Amino acid sequence: MAQPVIGVIGGSGLYEIEQLTDIREVVLDTPFGAPSDAYVTGLLDGVRMIFLPRHGRGHRLLPSEVNYRANIHGMKQLGVERIISVSAVGSMKEEIVPGHIVIPDQFFDRTQGKRASTFFGEGVVGHVQFADPVCADLAAVLYDAAVAAGAVAHKGGTYICIEGPNFSTRAESNIYRSWGVDVIGMTNIPEARLAREAEICYATVALATDYDCWHAEHEDVSIEAVLAIIEHNVATARDIIRRAARQLATPRDCGCGEALKYAIMTQRDRIPE
Ligand code: ADE
Repeated sequence: MAQPVIGVIGGSGLYEIEQLTDIREVVLDTPFGAPSDAYVTGLLDGVRMIFLPRHGRGHRLLPSEVNYRANIHGMKQLGVERIISVSAVGSMKEEIVPGHIVIPDQFFDRTQGKRASTFFGEGVVGHVQFADPVCADLAAVLYDAAVAAGAVAHKGGTYICIEGPNFSTRAESNIYRSWGVDVIGMTNIPEARLAREAEICYATVALATDYDCWHAEHEDVSIEAVLAIIEHNVATARDIIRRAARQLATPRDCGCGEALKYAIMTQRDRIPE
């Protein structure tokens, strides 16, 4: 059986994985347009990795401008079975201190419907299960890797995904807190939906960079503060990926690869090849 391929989608501050060997750049086109950038493929301790900077090199794309369908389609074309997303997030809980890692197990969608977030439509109707949007097996590996890398890590939690690009108002931030969410970001929900439809495992290493704007004793979130925390923690994020990759060299044993089994309603003979 071919060795599993691991995809990494890097967010703000993670624009490459160091330590890759046998590196190649792959420029892909997809039926949904161009991905954010060329994919970088290489070996990390013998494991095949495919890296994509979510916002493109030089950070050119707003969260709303990222072509999520193309990004995930490209990963599928390259044989990726599991995607590790690395994302900067705001903390919505006192105990999630900037610099901590959270491995969310739920998402809450507060995007404004501007993002194409399904491969279905145009005559093909499908409804995948999404009650548990994160691959529990992949999330467990990431949590263990984060602890082994020396990070303070939180297992589980709800990531609320806003449209951005502006950060939240204080009223929004306080309301989201009253809903019990743990972290806030701008990118993960379309990726998680599309990965599920593509039968790819998806989980996130969320790096808390700030307390958004709800905390009376902390400055309101600013890009400067976010980037400063990322700079301090990017080595840890890379260490987590490396440790996780070693654990992911085996075939997967979760249900993510069968997400479409009972999901497609359109009669098979009407689906174009
Ligand atoms: N990314 C990092 N911090 C954030 C915040 N407070 N809100 C939304 N996205 C973020």
